[in-house]
Amino acid sequence: MGAMKAHPTGAALGAEIRGVDLSRPLDSATVARLNELWLEHEVIYFRNQTLTPAQHIGFSEGFGDVEVHVRTECCRADYPQIFVVSNIIENGKPIGAGDAGTRWHFDGCCTEKPSRGSLLYAKIVPVQDGVALGDTMFSSMTRAYDALPAGMKQRLHGMKAVNSYVKGYYRPINATKRPELTPEQMKKVPELEVPIVRRHPFTGKSCLYVNDTFTARIADVSETERNELLDYLFQHVSRPEFIYRHNWREGDLLAWDNCSTQHCAIADYPPLHRLMERTTIMGAASVSVSMVACAA
Ligand code: SIN
Repeated sequence: MGAMKAHPTGAALGAEIRGVDLSRPLDSATVARLNELWLEHEVIYFRNQTLTPAQHIGFSEGFGDVEVHVRTECCRADYPQIFVVSNIIENGKPIGAGDAGTRWHFDGCCTEKPSRGSLLYAKIVPVQDGVALGDTMFSSMTRAYDALPAGMKQRLHGMKAVNSYVKGYYRPINATKRPELTPEQMKKVPELEVPIVRRHPFTGKSCLYVNDTFTARIADVSETERNELLDYLFQHVSRPEFIYRHNWREGDLLAWDNCSTQHCAIADYPPLHRLMERTTIMGAASVSVSMVACAA
């Protein structure tokens, strides 16, 4: 392998990193450089990787502790830190979440310390007539914030939204029936107030922090204002100029930042099979202290 190098996608965010074999242990200088590149580009990806679950987890741990998803029934039995995203059914039972992420969202945005990032490894990519299906779109929330009119930035300053895992859980786009959340799961995901403009815990940049999946309402405003504002913001964050669309190849490992980006999976492939495995890095910073002081 040659020297490690970042190749920006040319879109609003994202870079391919070449010259790294993630199945080998990486020295701390390389991990630190990858962390910088990840913060800079918001999404980074590596092609042609061959990873065991332990190597996937080991690489992820270079960026923080790896969490176990609240949907434990969708996690690997042998490696519960790996959340399986797949529409494959084995012995009458789904092997993972078949309908995950088909609306815009941040992973782990319903916990007091929201997730730092996620790392998705492509094991089976559906292909039809030579074209890979099941792309994932990523939208830059730093770009989306920067592009807001000054008056809107002022208006959002200090505003809070309420995130609800339960709201997001019950509205997958393809209406697959999900199992009822158990009382134990419900206890782990109470509603949470978050700043609409969140300061990135590492870069300090302002990020728009509302999403169509989990944002249930805006705190302390009338219903009319809430609906008008959320309609505007949901439409704004998905504008094409903020988006990088990743066309997967088997062996891709892609890492996204869960504060500076949100993502949306495109379910255009059933009945073809898709199998992805995800690790999710715990956040270190509490969301309640990440309000942006002056959003203008
Ligand atoms: C997710 O939201 O974690 C799933 C993304 C994907 O399947 O592309």
